[in-house]
Amino acid sequence: MTFAARMTMFQQEASPMPDDTRETAVSLSGIGKTFGDTTALEPVTLDIKKGEFFSLLGPSGCGKTTLLRIIGGFEHPTSGALQIGGQSVIGRPPFERRTNMVFQHGALFPHLTVAQNIAFGLEMKKTPRDVITRKVGEALELVRLQDFGDRKIDQLSGGQRQRIAMARALVNDPEVLLLDEPLGALDLRLRLQMQDELRRLHKEIGGTFIFVTHDQGEAISMSDRIAVMSRGRIQQVGSPREVYERPVNRFVAEFMGHSNFYEGTVETKAADGLGDVNLHGRMFPCRIPPAFDVGSKVFVALRYERVEVQPLGDLCAGLEGTLIDEAYLGPTLQRTVDLGPLGKIIADSANNGREAPLGIGARVCVRWTVDSPTVLSAI
Ligand SMILES: Nc1ncnc2c1ncn2[C@@H]1O[C@H](COP(=O)(O)OP(=O)(O)OP(=O)(O)O)[C@@H](O)[C@H]1O
Ligand SMILES: [Mg+2]
Repeated sequence: MTFAARMTMFQQEASPMPDDTRETAVSLSGIGKTFGDTTALEPVTLDIKKGEFFSLLGPSGCGKTTLLRIIGGFEHPTSGALQIGGQSVIGRPPFERRTNMVFQHGALFPHLTVAQNIAFGLEMKKTPRDVITRKVGEALELVRLQDFGDRKIDQLSGGQRQRIAMARALVNDPEVLLLDEPLGALDLRLRLQMQDELRRLHKEIGGTFIFVTHDQGEAISMSDRIAVMSRGRIQQVGSPREVYERPVNRFVAEFMGHSNFYEGTVETKAADGLGDVNLHGRMFPCRIPPAFDVGSKVFVALRYERVEVQPLGDLCAGLEGTLIDEAYLGPTLQRTVDLGPLGKIIADSANNGREAPLGIGARVCVRWTVDSPTVLSAI
């Protein structure tokens, strides 16, 4: 293994440590939920820190909304304990919790004005009129819609409605803001703009945000930590870098980005964890996690963007193959190479505007650094 490859590996391990000294905002202990025969949520044990931007990420039906609704008090868990700000809230209704929720399908009152929508919760709590006026003004300023108080909801664009839904939650000064896919219905450009707005709001308010999304890129760019969920179960919790670089299982590896997958057996393993995985007779240099020994059956995941494809020269310090597809995807170029008995491998490279097509049928050299593959349990 080259010195450069080792250095890359050490740099990747030096990811920032989570700030564990912060107080816990939301503490879940064995929180689960079944609806009749359906298990919507397997028991979850998890602490979310004060001031954290925490995302629940997973495909449709994996239990994200169910978990958020349990935290907000809109759903009773079938099992477990739940504390918010150090106090048990099991059995407490939503309005007795220091949480506010922005719902997946933004439930604004269409017959009320923007200001009346935002004021609704405060009026329910019999807040004095002058305080309501001031707070509604502040909330509108936070979402940068200060001149929209008198508009009707149907006179707003989709993005403006989402911002009003956020203002309506923020006006109650929640310690924990629960956001259920608040950007789900927006087009890409507006979505990116609203992501910036949300990041700014989080900084300005300094509260705890629990954010639901099924968009990996969104979760990665917004969050301090992400819980990746599938089929009612949290598969992995970690910083965006941890879940992307070190997925703990095949689901997370597949869900976060795009990877090539191969099945093989650990052939060698040195004391420092470096070794080879035997894939159909070809040796794949990898970092072998402590859980695996020589003879272990494993999956090897290799991200598209970690694979380099070059025209085959005199020396190929990798695997030789034949280019079978070359796709132009705008910002990236995607190449598919046939590696013989090993199957295909896909490589993405940034489109720098200087690379000429290699041409289908070209003989190529396929390479990656030894720390790039992730070795996962085959079961
Ligand atoms: N009230 C309910 N009664 C019965 N089953 C339910 C109920 N609410 C949710 N479920 C089921 O629980 C599972 C999790 O649903 P949930 O709404 O939490 O998923 P989700 O991750 O938010 O999905 P989406 O991304 O589509 O919003 C699903 O299988 C769903 O059908
Ligand atoms: Mg949902």
